[in-house]
Amino acid sequence: MTYDDIPGWFYPIDQAGFAWVLDFQNDMTPPGDLLELGTFMGKSAILMGQKLKPGERLTVCDLFEDVVTWDGVDQTEKAFFGSRTPTRQQFEANYRAFHPCLPEIVQAPTGTICRHVAPKSCRFVHIDASHLYANVREDTISARQLLQDNGVVVFDDYRKPECPGTAAAVWEAILNDALHPIFATDAKLYATWGDPEPLRAAIIARARASDWCRTGNPVAIRDMQIIRLARRGK
Ligand SMILES: C[S@@+](CC[C@H](N)C(=O)[O-])C[C@H]1O[C@@H](n2cnc3c(N)ncnc32)[C@H](O)[C@@H]1O
Repeated sequence: MTYDDIPGWFYPIDQAGFAWVLDFQNDMTPPGDLLELGTFMGKSAILMGQKLKPGERLTVCDLFEDVVTWDGVDQTEKAFFGSRTPTRQQFEANYRAFHPCLPEIVQAPTGTICRHVAPKSCRFVHIDASHLYANVREDTISARQLLQDNGVVVFDDYRKPECPGTAAAVWEAILNDALHPIFATDAKLYATWGDPEPLRAAIIARARASDWCRTGNPVAIRDMQIIRLARRGK
């Protein structure tokens, strides 16, 4: 099995974004755990696992096959997963194809994650489970509790027409709750409750050094800034 064989919605530009953020943290920040809310077949979790340092832990939280039966999942989201229901068994097989050990697996609603992960233990949280406002809002509040100072949170589908609730929760956190955007791709927005500048500078440098990525000019939002990371020519 190759990495490209694993189904999912984790595109090369965000594979680079994740790798560059995690490499930066590995070089510049204290150790910390990684958390993914919404794992599906493991495409993004496998990359996160590759960036773990000794002693660090990756936790993934997903309902897996329970996503189509659990009462708390909205009918639209159930219908989305109906024809492509993830199973824990498939996730574990995919993960094991790339790593000798499985991560910590929480097969439960993401709203329970603070019962499983210690406050301020994480350096990176990927929010990619339910895309409804109430759930993304709850996941964002959890991420804030679980992240260390200068930890990074990544939101999936922050600008898709089908996911206005995700957009609302992300911008609510930025405009009302002191979350600082760092950079964004077409699919994901990367942010921190700490200082965004050192990581933003590192991303600009990594894009410049690559032969396929570019960053756009900074765009101001109140007293904050955000840059776009994209493929060259796009
Ligand atoms: C978009 S997929 C995740 C994609 C994955 N990160 C990747 O890169 O391929 C969303 C996942 O979230 C899970 N999910 C949806 N709502 C959830 C909830 N409330 N709690 C836990 N998991 C949920 C689904 O079972 C599904 O596997």
